[in-house]
Amino acid sequence: MARSALLNVMVQAAMKAGRSLARDFGEVQNLQVSLKGPGDYVSQADHRAEKIIFQELSRARPDYGFLMEESGEIAAKDGQHRWIVDPLDGTTNFLHGIPFFAVSIALERQGQIVAGVIYNPALDELYTAERGGGAFLNDRRLRVAARTKLVDAVIGTGIPHLGVGHHGHYLVELRNVMAEVSGVRRMGAAALDLASVAAGRLDGFWEDGLSPWDMAAGIIMVREAGGFLSDKNGGQDMFTTRNIVAGNEAIHRALLKTIKKPI
Ligand code: IPD
Ligand code: CA
Ligand code: CA
Ligand code: CA
Repeated sequence: MARSALLNVMVQAAMKAGRSLARDFGEVQNLQVSLKGPGDYVSQADHRAEKIIFQELSRARPDYGFLMEESGEIAAKDGQHRWIVDPLDGTTNFLHGIPFFAVSIALERQGQIVAGVIYNPALDELYTAERGGGAFLNDRRLRVAARTKLVDAVIGTGIPHLGVGHHGHYLVELRNVMAEVSGVRRMGAAALDLASVAAGRLDGFWEDGLSPWDMAAGIIMVREAGGFLSDKNGGQDMFTTRNIVAGNEAIHRALLKTIKKPI
C-alpha cells in the first residue's frame, strides 16, 4: 500500500503521540488529572500527545489550521486546510488502565474530510484512509461487515456520562436497539468505534453528543471501507447535530429506523 506524503506526515505524528501515550499509560497513577466538567477528565497525557501532534503537523504544513480538543482552534493561513485532532480518544479508559484508546487525526480541505489516521498504541493498530484510496488497518485493506440484518448484528454505542443532558432519549434508543440486535457494545472510544465499523468488527454504531475530533477520522475510515454514515435525521450534519449513525448500507438504514421508534 503506497501512502501519500501527506498521509505519512499524519502517520508519523499519530505514532509519535501514540508512543507518548504508551509511556504515560505505564505510569498512569503519576499523571496530573483535572476535570473539565462532570465526568469529563483530562490528563497530562492528553496534553503531551496534543503538543507532539501540533509540533509535527505545523512543522510539516505551516499554513494549515487546527481544531484540537484541548487547545481549540487556529485559523488556516492558506484558508483551505484544517487538521482535526483528538490526542487521546478514550481518556476515561486510559485513566482506568483499560487498553482501548487512540490518537485521532483528520485533515479537511475546503470543509471536506480528505484523510484520517487513528492509532491505538496498546494494540499497535494503525488505521489510515485517504479519499478515494480506501481504508487500511496496518497494511490490510478494510471492508465493512457484510451482515444485513440487525438480528445478526453487534452494534457499538456511547453511553452518555454524568453531566451530559440527553439520558432520557438515549435510554429509549438503547432499549429499541437492544430489542432487535444480537449484541450491544460500549467500548469507550468513539474514534475506535468508527474504525471498528470500518474493520467489520462492529456491524454498526451510533452515538449522541460527540465533537468533530471524535468523529472526523472515523468518518473517512467508514466511508472508504464502503460504509454509510449520517446524523440521526439521515443528513450529513454530524458535526453540528453532534450525533452519528454508521454501518453498511442495510444496517445503517435499519439502525436509523430502529433508534427513532417511539416508546
Ligand atoms: C470520548 C470518547 C467516548 C465518547 C465520549 C467522548 P474523549 O472522547 O470518544 O467514547 O462516548 O463522548 O467524549 O474525551 O475520551 O476524547
Ligand atoms: Ca475529552
Ligand atoms: Ca474523543
Ligand atoms: Ca480526547
